[in-house]
Amino acid sequence: MAKITFVNEKKSIDVEPGSNLRKVALENGVPLYWGPHKIFNCMGFGHCGSCKVLITKGQENVSRPGLWERFRILAGPLLFFWRLGNEKKLRLSCQCRVNGDIEVETTPSGNWHGERFWG
Ligand code: FES
Repeated sequence: MAKITFVNEKKSIDVEPGSNLRKVALENGVPLYWGPHKIFNCMGFGHCGSCKVLITKGQENVSRPGLWERFRILAGPLLFFWRLGNEKKLRLSCQCRVNGDIEVETTPSGNWHGERFWG
């Protein structure tokens, strides 16, 4: 079993290795989306980028980002800025399979004017 700890929600869930992070979150009432994305999202196809999360611990215990996910994060203007300072942590939860224990921060705020943004 693998343990997913949702830090903001203070909730830990045991899952089978290989479980999809988005699916586990939604099945357990963990909110992944904010604002209009609660209704308007791509339902896990990796297109909208609104299911982004930060894997704050255990990055080695999730599947590696595929070509599409990497492209989507780099090409999406908002995701690009969200990635700054979180290069190893930012993932699209719908594209992420959990293979071991991780800690996850949902609906992260962007690093719009932090130290890393300007230099
Ligand atoms: S739900 Fe749209 S990218 Fe994950």
